[in-house]
Amino acid sequence: MKKILILTGGGDCPGLNAVIRGVAKRARKEKDWEVYGSIEAFNGVLNEPQEIVKLTSKRTAGIHVKGGTILKTTNKSNPIKFPVTQADGSIKFMDRSDELVAKLKKLNFEAVINIGGDGSQKISKVLYDKGIPVIGVPKTIDNDLSATDMTFGFQTAVQIATDSFDKLVTTAESHHRVMIMEVMGRDAGWIALHTAIAGGAEICLIPEIPYDVNKLVKRIDLRYTKGRGFVNIVIAEGAKPKAGVITASAGEKGSEHVRLGGVAYQLSKQLKDAGCKVEIRETVLGHVQRGGTPSAFDRVLASAFGVKAFELALEKNFGRMVALRNNTITSVTLEEATREPNFVKHENTYLLKAARGLGISFGD
Ligand code: F6P
Repeated sequence: MKKILILTGGGDCPGLNAVIRGVAKRARKEKDWEVYGSIEAFNGVLNEPQEIVKLTSKRTAGIHVKGGTILKTTNKSNPIKFPVTQADGSIKFMDRSDELVAKLKKLNFEAVINIGGDGSQKISKVLYDKGIPVIGVPKTIDNDLSATDMTFGFQTAVQIATDSFDKLVTTAESHHRVMIMEVMGRDAGWIALHTAIAGGAEICLIPEIPYDVNKLVKRIDLRYTKGRGFVNIVIAEGAKPKAGVITASAGEKGSEHVRLGGVAYQLSKQLKDAGCKVEIRETVLGHVQRGGTPSAFDRVLASAFGVKAFELALEKNFGRMVALRNNTITSVTLEEATREPNFVKHENTYLLKAARGLGISFGD
């Protein structure tokens, strides 16, 4: 029997289980393949005893509708920068990639399918360069991978954010308030931009366009003197004022990343300090954007990615990441997949044009 290994790394997102099922169902059609999953990203391989489970049809049946990942995940065990707690409680990062490569080679998998975002695909590339037959599958609610037109999970996050925004509009209107809703996305403003257009926001603040607080106050004033008398703002967690810094706190022990979050409160204070007299309320959506059942779109995209990933393995076409491009499921090299992030950066991005055309202010 030939064996294939699947794992999910980094933050979870809706659609991970649909990819796992897609790989497993497609593999079963070949009769001579068995599908395995590593628990908690590469920890399942690195840990002693190893935690590798056989993905039988019983384990994968119906999981495409479930959020999260049946294989569990972590963003604190990058094998290239693995956090190791020292005697004094401090953390040192170690490169365990050679150990991982040796263990993977011993396990003798025909292919390793690494489902994850930019960080995970960088790991895929290192392992591939060290001789592991890796195939990447792009996931993230942030949609910040440039080699694919869309990552799965993003569309579900936008829907959750839009549903929440709609609820905030009705209460903003009743109370004549300014409502600030903070969404995720790290350094990319895609969730905020989509939500602002879908929800009909007055103001949308994204990391790619630093904002001027005084301009925002003027815009809000206008809405109270000549407009509908309430304001709904969407702000991305990585947004920052022109003269200011990003709001972030140190990551948890062992995490390579700073934790974003809290810009809604920062903006609220900035608006008040700049003379905004109306009542302001803040909502930080947080991890609800990553939870729950995937949308139909994300189930379809994730399932198609899973099928494609297995087919790449069948063709022995390794060192690639599956991608959606021009309505086709295709693949790109891991080199291309990790070359540059996907940010809202060009004034000709059709979404930016649409948003500006609709009168949404970016505070610039
Ligand atoms: O990358 C996905 C994401 O949800 C970001 O939008 C967010 O900043 C981050 O992960 C949160 O990570 P954690 O789950 O570690 O708090």
